[in-house]
Amino acid sequence: MKIKESIIILDFGSQYSHIISRRIRDIGIYTILCEHNISVSNIIYKQPKGIILSGGPFSVYNKNYPSIYKNILELNIPILGICYGMQLISYLFGGIIKSSKNKEYGKSYLSIIDRKNPLFLGIPKNKSIVVWMSHSDEIKKIPKELKIIGKTKSCPIAAFYHKEKNIYAVQFHPEVSHTEFGIIMIKNFVIKICKCKTNNYNLLNNIIKKSIHNIIKVVSKKKVILGISGGLDSFVTALLIYKAIKNSLYCIFINHGLLLEEEEKFIKKICKSVEFPIRIINAKDKFLSKLVGVTNPEQKRKIIGEEFIKIFQKESKNINDVKFLAQGTIYSDVIESSKSSKLSDSIKSHHNVGGLPKNMNLKLLEPLKKFFKDEVKEIGRILGVPNYLLNKHPFPGPGIGIRIIGEINEKKISILRKAENILFQELNNYKLYKIVDQAFIILLPIKSVGIMGDKRSYEYTAILRSINTKDFMTATFSYLSYEFLEQVSNRIINEVNGINRMLYDISSKPPSTIEWE
Ligand code: XMP
Repeated sequence: MKIKESIIILDFGSQYSHIISRRIRDIGIYTILCEHNISVSNIIYKQPKGIILSGGPFSVYNKNYPSIYKNILELNIPILGICYGMQLISYLFGGIIKSSKNKEYGKSYLSIIDRKNPLFLGIPKNKSIVVWMSHSDEIKKIPKELKIIGKTKSCPIAAFYHKEKNIYAVQFHPEVSHTEFGIIMIKNFVIKICKCKTNNYNLLNNIIKKSIHNIIKVVSKKKVILGISGGLDSFVTALLIYKAIKNSLYCIFINHGLLLEEEEKFIKKICKSVEFPIRIINAKDKFLSKLVGVTNPEQKRKIIGEEFIKIFQKESKNINDVKFLAQGTIYSDVIESSKSSKLSDSIKSHHNVGGLPKNMNLKLLEPLKKFFKDEVKEIGRILGVPNYLLNKHPFPGPGIGIRIIGEINEKKISILRKAENILFQELNNYKLYKIVDQAFIILLPIKSVGIMGDKRSYEYTAILRSINTKDFMTATFSYLSYEFLEQVSNRIINEVNGINRMLYDISSKPPSTIEWE
């Protein structure tokens, strides 16, 4: 297929660069994600209809700040700067950027100053809109050729455009789903400003076909070993690979002792539903003994990741001609483990990305690596994944090992499992399981005094975390009723020995993450 129209995204290491790409893909336009320092001639060669400068964790006033070739601003190709991209454009035109006294992370309210600006067309009038911010610098002085078109209470220059050039910029993130009308702004940029024509590029069906074709080609006559975790990502990966190479795929489920109750049963059920043979390995003692005394979250993740790989390598020796280790890695895992770009900051090592040894004798096969959770769900639906798995809340590879804050031991694992079980029962009782996107319990290493049946208690504190999200890259805490919170809290405190206090986590992502570690 000849790609006629494209938008180039210049990446400054934002956690959201691929979401920008995704949003434009959803509109039906092809995107090309490039290093920020791509040459002007290379851009001219690619003939994009527009250029987007992503956000990034940098400050333009620091030495060696990442930039673009300035002539790009003179190409007469429409440009949209987002967050750091905005600050950089303003700086290149002579603006002054400084660390902000009122740093904004998460929800903020944008007042649109210029309603007629093409970027804001179609946004209802007389309304300040919710926008998602994530910045610690701000533009203090704007060059005269740039005109302010939006502000928030603590950020007076939250959007601008260039009076003579086709250049626009916003301090907030229109690409994240929590920015109201963010999609409209991106559509306005792509369609109204860059004049792209949507081509209804039927992405997912084509992608599935292409992916199966690629797997057949890459794997050839060799064998693939894959770890099923009980979650959607590894299962959809398994289905894709199975469709391509049938019985040359070997599925393994490793029980690391950090699973929820009944998880092993669940795995057997889903594999039976699609007739995958699966080998179950109980490695609980191995994992738990390696984790004794470990409290650092990254160390926990690395240890768990390494143990997984050791088992795969050992297992692969028993299968003739196995050359590939398949993983259900999806894009958010890659971004947050900082493998998406040289400039991104590392947030956490997701187990299937962060813990791989350098001298591994298996090649990686990760067909879902470029997709977001909601796309993976859609691919799963097309491939016939049963509904009970499509709707299952995600569960991290390192399991409750990263939900027990501080040291992990058998007693804490048992406490947490009982508490999670009660939470899921109540989510079902209140018909909330499908309303929230992910809910779980975190066990803190903090004890507090309580009174139970006239007796003093001194037990652990647990946190209820429940979030709503589209793609797990940004999230808000769920607005749960007091009645539900009270019910869960009462049951956990009364029924789980070891917990005498419950808290509800009301942080959004960013600035917090969904899991605590
Ligand atoms: P965070 O905590 O990064 O989580 O906001 C985003 C989503 O990813 C899940 N998660 C993981 N999934 N391996 C996984 O397969 C991991 O190491 C991992 N860490 C977090 C998390 O539960 C949430 O859905």
